Amino acid sequence: MLNNQQVVVIGGSEGIGLAVARAARSVGARVLAVSRTRAKLEAARDLVSGLEVRVADINDTASIQELFAGLPSVDHVYVAAGSTKVGSPLDQSLDEYRHKFDERLWGSVEVVRAAHHLVRPGGSFTFTGGLSSDRPVSGAWVNGIATMATEQLARVLALELAPVRFNSVSPGYTDTPMWDNVFPESGARALSDVTKKHLIPRLVTADEVAQAVLLLMQNEAITGETIHVDCGARLV
Ligand SMILES: NC(=O)c1ccc[n+]([C@@H]2O[C@H](COP(=O)([O-])OP(=O)(O)OC[C@H]3O[C@@H](n4cnc5c(N)ncnc54)[C@H](OP(=O)(O)O)[C@@H]3O)[C@@H](O)[C@H]2O)c1
Repeated sequence: MLNNQQVVVIGGSEGIGLAVARAARSVGARVLAVSRTRAKLEAARDLVSGLEVRVADINDTASIQELFAGLPSVDHVYVAAGSTKVGSPLDQSLDEYRHKFDERLWGSVEVVRAAHHLVRPGGSFTFTGGLSSDRPVSGAWVNGIATMATEQLARVLALELAPVRFNSVSPGYTDTPMWDNVFPESGARALSDVTKKHLIPRLVTADEVAQAVLLLMQNEAITGETIHVDCGARLV
């Protein structure tokens, strides 16, 4: 249980972050969901009883600092925010690729710098890696290095900043609104050919990823860990 513990979810208005917010509320946490879009946050608040919401952008250091400056203490932080740019490493401006890397890796570091002093010993940060750390996907090369770097960030910060705990979750192909932006016609259904080859031949659900994040928050013996929730996708 996370009774009365303060959980902050950066990227908590949709998808995996929203599922984590809902799961944490269901075990008694006070949950603050954060994202860039007020309308999405208000929709999330309608879905999850007792959810608190705040607008902030992980790409904007000042907004992340302001977010945590307003909180007296924090038990657990989950960082879901992060996006992908697909393309050849030889084409297009490097700036956009660099931004995707910075957002996921340095965005997570910014969150830690702003929040660490509020987190009690045994409290935790959980970052988001991904399948492409272990199984690179053609075109998603920046995502692969950014998720791998973020999983490694959890391990190095576990060492640097103990007894606060640092972990990551590595989702496989997960049924979330993210895919509506990639495949506007069909969303995550476009992945059915890919997922039928997996050991468990279907998409992961956001709730299944959230269960792993809740374990990482609640089990105070786990630090420096990455939990894969991928239907066995990295093994085939
Ligand atoms: N879905 C998958 O198959 C999959 C697989 C592996 C890894 N992942 C990773 O898992 C994480 C969550 O993915 P998802 O599928 O749940 O994505 P999603 O459905 O697109 O949700 C992303 C959430 O993050 C928020 N967000 C995005 N950029 C932000 C920013 N700069 N600052 C603050 N909040 C921000 C979004 O709200 P606003 O737009 O309002 O900011 C939204 O609440 C991402 O890092 C993604 O790369 C996903």
